[in-house]
Amino acid sequence: MNLRTIHVQADPAYPIHIGVNLLERITSETHGRAVIIDDEHTRGVLGQALVDALSTQGRQPLHITVPAGEGSKSVDTWQTVLRTMADAGVTRDTTVMAVGGGVVGDLAGFVAATYARGLPFVQIPTSLLAMADAAVGGKTGINLPEGKNLVGAFWQPAAVYMDVATLASLPQDRFNEGRVEIAKHGLLADTALLALALDDAFEPHAEATLLADVLARSVAVKADVVAEDALEQSGARATLNLGHTLAHAYEAIAQHTIAHGVAVAWGLLYAAHLSAAWAAHERVPFNAWTTHAHDLLARIDAPLPPDVTFDALLPYLKRDKKNAGVGRRWVLMPDVGHARLAQVTDRMEREAWASYAEDVATIRARKGTP
Ligand SMILES: NC(=O)c1ccc[n+]([C@@H]2O[C@H](COP(=O)([O-])OP(=O)(O)OC[C@H]3O[C@@H](n4cnc5c(N)ncnc54)[C@H](O)[C@@H]3O)[C@@H](O)[C@H]2O)c1
Ligand SMILES: [Zn+2]
Repeated sequence: MNLRTIHVQADPAYPIHIGVNLLERITSETHGRAVIIDDEHTRGVLGQALVDALSTQGRQPLHITVPAGEGSKSVDTWQTVLRTMADAGVTRDTTVMAVGGGVVGDLAGFVAATYARGLPFVQIPTSLLAMADAAVGGKTGINLPEGKNLVGAFWQPAAVYMDVATLASLPQDRFNEGRVEIAKHGLLADTALLALALDDAFEPHAEATLLADVLARSVAVKADVVAEDALEQSGARATLNLGHTLAHAYEAIAQHTIAHGVAVAWGLLYAAHLSAAWAAHERVPFNAWTTHAHDLLARIDAPLPPDVTFDALLPYLKRDKKNAGVGRRWVLMPDVGHARLAQVTDRMEREAWASYAEDVATIRARKGTP
C-alpha cells in the first residue's frame, strides 16, 4: 500500500504519514532516547512493539503505560509521568512518543510541552478519533475537576504516524466516534468525504487502502483549517466546532454518560435547523442539509439524546467557553461547505429548537421508544 503524506503548515511544519507497518519508518526517522506513553489497551496494539523495536536499536526506551480512559488526562497522571521521567534521568534530547487514542495523545503532548521546557514529540494515534481529530492541530492538555481541557498548551509534533491496521481492534462504537468527526469534516469542506464516511464499506476491518484514503481526505480538511488559524485566533478554526456547542451542553447535562460522537451527531442536526432559522431571519440563501445529519445519526445508530427542554440546556450553553461577549455565537452552515461563526438571537435558537424537537420526536417514534 502506498504511503500518504500530508504536510501540515504549522510553525514548524510537520508531516502526517498514513499507511500500514510504519514501525520501521518511525524508528528510522526519530533519533536518540525515547519515552513511549501508551495505555493498557494500546500497549498491545503497537506500544510494546515500538518499545521492542527501539530497544533492539539500543535506544533505551522508557515505557510508561497509563490506565485507559479519560481519567488519565489528569494532573495526577501528568505528575506521575513527569516524575517517572525525572527518576529515569530523561534529558532534553529525548523524544516523547504517544501511542494511543486522544487521551494518550493529549496527555503525552502536554508532558512533552512541559517537561524540561519542552521535548520533541511524535504522535502515533491508534483510535479513529485520534487520527481524524486529536492528533492533528497541536492542541495538548489535561482536565481539571472544574472542566475538560482546562490546562494545556499548543505543542506541535515533529511528525504523526497513522497506522490504519491498528483500527482493526477498535470497538465499533469507538470507530463511530471518529466517523462523526470525519463526517463533520466532509460537511465542512468535502462532500465526497462525507459520502465515504457514511458508506457501508467504511468499517474497522475495511481494506487499508480505503481507510487510508478516507483518513487522508479528513486530515487534509483539518490540516487546512489549522494552518490558517494555528493558535485559534482568527475564528477560522472555530468552524471545526460545527455541532459541538449543543454537544458540549448535552455532555455536561448528562454528566458525560453520552458519547462525544453521539452528542456531536445530534448537535449537527440542531446546527442544520439553527442554520435554517438564522438564514430565514437574515434573508441569506439557504440550502437544507438536515438529511445529511439524519443519515449520520442512522449510520451510527445513535441512541436518543437526553430528553431535556431548551431551558434546561440554557445554563450549559452559556457556560461554553467559545461564547465571548453578548449573545451567543454558533457555527452555522447556510450551505454544505460554507460554515461560519454567527451571532444568533434567543428567538432563532428557540425556533430551531422547536423544529429540531419535532425531528427528534419522529426518530423517537420510529425507534419505538415512548
Ligand atoms: N487535541 C485535540 O485537538 C483533540 C481533539 C479531539 C479530541 N481530543 C481528546 O481526545 C480524547 C478522546 O479520544 P479517543 O476517543 O481516542 O479516546 P481514548 O484515548 O480514551 O480511546 C478510546 C478507547 O479506545 C482504546 N483504543 C485506542 N486505540 C485502540 C485500538 N487501536 N484498538 C483497541 N482499543 C483502542 C483506548 O485504550 C480507550 O480505551 C478526549 O479526551 C478529547 O478531549 C483532543
Ligand atoms: Zn469533537
